Amino acid sequence: MNTILITGATGFLGGAVTVNLLKKSQQQNLLLLVRADSRDEGLKRVKNNLAKFAIEEFQLNQLTRENILIGDLAKPELFADDCRLNEVTHVLNCAAVASFGANPLIWKVNVEGTFAFASRMARVKGLKRFVHVGTAMSCAPEANSLVVESELYTLREQHVVEYTWSKATVERMMTEMLPNLPLVIARPSIVVGHSNCGCAPSPSIFWVFRMALTLGKFMCELNDRIDVVPVDYCADALELLLTAPNVERKIIHISAGENSSVTFAEIDIAMAKASGGHAVAEKYQKVNYRELAASKNSFSSLFGPCNERIVLRAMNLYGHFSKLNVVFSNEKLMELGMPPSSKFTDYLHHCVDSTRNATIAELMEVDFK
Ligand SMILES: NC(=O)c1ccc[n+]([C@@H]2O[C@H](COP(=O)([O-])OP(=O)(O)OC[C@H]3O[C@@H](n4cnc5c(N)ncnc54)[C@H](OP(=O)(O)O)[C@@H]3O)[C@@H](O)[C@H]2O)c1
Repeated sequence: MNTILITGATGFLGGAVTVNLLKKSQQQNLLLLVRADSRDEGLKRVKNNLAKFAIEEFQLNQLTRENILIGDLAKPELFADDCRLNEVTHVLNCAAVASFGANPLIWKVNVEGTFAFASRMARVKGLKRFVHVGTAMSCAPEANSLVVESELYTLREQHVVEYTWSKATVERMMTEMLPNLPLVIARPSIVVGHSNCGCAPSPSIFWVFRMALTLGKFMCELNDRIDVVPVDYCADALELLLTAPNVERKIIHISAGENSSVTFAEIDIAMAKASGGHAVAEKYQKVNYRELAASKNSFSSLFGPCNERIVLRAMNLYGHFSKLNVVFSNEKLMELGMPPSSKFTDYLHHCVDSTRNATIAELMEVDFK
């Protein structure tokens, strides 16, 4: 029987994959690396998260404290001796400090701790696969391009945020320094919402679209494309990569690709339809940072109570990514038999419904941990 170790099950992607596996009837052992003071607390934290994905109670109750491995990637030496690690056949490493903020733990967790953890797992004799969840942005893509999976070598100055630089660095370290690790690097593009539950599992990044369209100004053109996938699609793809043949030592995008990526203009129309408002296309303005900053004093009246300085900073960071106008090739994933992703505009109404009562400031917290 397979023993699958998942890190990040209290988070967005790791939670979605754990739900997938619990919904399957086939027997497999699950081991979930969780930050907690006790296994009971860890179990509670995981269950609270998985409940956001509309999982049935009986499926959730398959999890017990035996499934929990308490551990913190900032201190991997504290769980490295747990003998249950030696039974693991597959690892899905979703844990990371996934923040565009200046979290001081980004390097310690995403690079040092993750590398130490991967090194430990490389010594497990029966390990068949180690799927590391990277990010498509770790290649620091060139604007206006169709990005294929290749770039492992980037420089710090190519990265706008420490987060993508940390992700790029650990991918290279694992590839170069752990030749025996049965490594697959999965690089999701931009994961927004769930195709049925909307933003109930996480409002990550969705608030950016709402904010830009409410303001009627942002740093991209309305015709720029953006590569968004729902978290359940990402989870299905990660599950596939855990066992797919001939993928070892490869980098694989999990993305919408050319056919399922959408333009901001399409998002504008879908957002207006879902929220019962008007599309902003006619009055929309592409602006630079200085022009955005000039609108700062209107943020609270438009978005609800917020720290206008923090919102401006967030808009600047996400604005940079929005104007890249890149699409990530999904050919490799399609070749493995994965169907195409649904379009963001097909399920955006669920995201609108599930965030109707929240302010922008509340929604954006999740991305600035
Ligand atoms: N969301 C996206 O759009 C996107 C796109 C591309 C790639 N990715 C990648 O996908 C992965 C998961 O992202 P996500 O969106 O699911 O992030 P998330 O919702 O913030 O979840 C992060 C997970 O990592 C865990 N974690 C953080 N620090 C840890 C530590 N020191 N020790 C152990 N666990 C720790 C968190 O546990 P706690 O609950 O204890 O904090 C949580 O379970 C990340 O590697 C990210 O780079 C995400």
